[in-house]
Amino acid sequence: MDRAAPPDAIRDILAAAAAPGVLSLAGGLPAPDSFPLTELVTVLDEVMSSAAAAALQYGPVEGVPAMRAGLAARAGETGGHTDPDRVLVTSGSQQGLALTTNALVAPGDTVALEDPGYLGAVRVFRQAGADLLAVPGDEDGMDTEALAGRLRRGARCRLVYVVPHFHNPTAAVLTEERRRHLAELAGHYGFLIVEDDPYADLAFDGVRLPSIDAFSDRVIRLLSLSKTLCPGFRVAGLVAPPALIGPLTTAKQDADLQTNTFGQHVVSRLLSRPGFLPRHLLRLQSLYRTRAGHLAGLLGGLGWLTFRAPRGGLFFWAAITTAGVDAATLTAAAIEEGLAIVPGPPFCIDRDGSRHLRLSFATLSPSEMPEAVRRLELARARVSGPRGAAAAG
Ligand SMILES: Cc1ncc(COP(=O)(O)O)c(C=O)c1O
Repeated sequence: MDRAAPPDAIRDILAAAAAPGVLSLAGGLPAPDSFPLTELVTVLDEVMSSAAAAALQYGPVEGVPAMRAGLAARAGETGGHTDPDRVLVTSGSQQGLALTTNALVAPGDTVALEDPGYLGAVRVFRQAGADLLAVPGDEDGMDTEALAGRLRRGARCRLVYVVPHFHNPTAAVLTEERRRHLAELAGHYGFLIVEDDPYADLAFDGVRLPSIDAFSDRVIRLLSLSKTLCPGFRVAGLVAPPALIGPLTTAKQDADLQTNTFGQHVVSRLLSRPGFLPRHLLRLQSLYRTRAGHLAGLLGGLGWLTFRAPRGGLFFWAAITTAGVDAATLTAAAIEEGLAIVPGPPFCIDRDGSRHLRLSFATLSPSEMPEAVRRLELARARVSGPRGAAAAG
């Protein structure tokens, strides 16, 4: 098994996407118009006028009490545990993933995850020297029967990593049945589950399935607020079994002492404003539903991409049906046309992603989308000749 971290193809694409005039369907950036600006201005003012001394000071490694309580309350809405002592505030859920891996995974340990998988996780696991067990998935998320088969045949893993709502990149949602099955397997085979769930609040219908920790006490939940509020504060948290909070807190202290105090004061106050969150989530869901519907209509009109229309999250995982067009070549041609897209292979562990694209519907406004899709068609025509270009308009 190759233990080197994968080259960062996506970072190069995102750099190209930042060039003037380039339209991007590439990054997983939330829509800037989803940020709760009005409420943030009020809260920033409150923090500076009534809590500046505390908000600008060092704080506890575990996190500011109000932030731990706020995250515990959010976790309790959909999971099994609501005790703030089980919460560690982290700098983004990405840090939660890194701390968990550093504390729990030794070189040669096996980490199982869905294939294709979130690149940021694949990198962290590989850097830690883990062997990756690639588990296939479908529109219902990780195929837990396939995982059970591997375990029955003798495979053993330290962690199983899942992105249960609107997976990055496939947009799949892990069904409740599979969540229960995974919990059962964790109890039977003694592994821990890392549940990384940054897209759960972005269901277009507002429906959210229970966290796996409602069914198992072997779960470390990563609670991101990047897509729910905004990524800039880098305030997130994890909820872990009591025995793991100590080692994870030590790992946090060694990494950066604490998550930024000011951000924790702002975010905890924002979350506790009466009525704010339900109102904000409704606005998010409607914004992304509209964008996804718009892009789905335009991409469907091309006639050479197939995809399941997402029910939430930020991404389409689209398969190229035109013979002779591969995702990497198409991505390079798209950049020439002023469009950034992401090819499938960097997300893939064992499976072939060479005919898939990950396309984000979050970043462009609906008025920019027709031009983006026109450029995508021009890129396809460059790669496979002009046949079909007229059909797509
Ligand atoms: C599956 C997944 N996990 C974690 C992250 C990172 O989230 P955060 O901003 O909370 O570090 C992302 C960001 O795109 C993601 O897609």
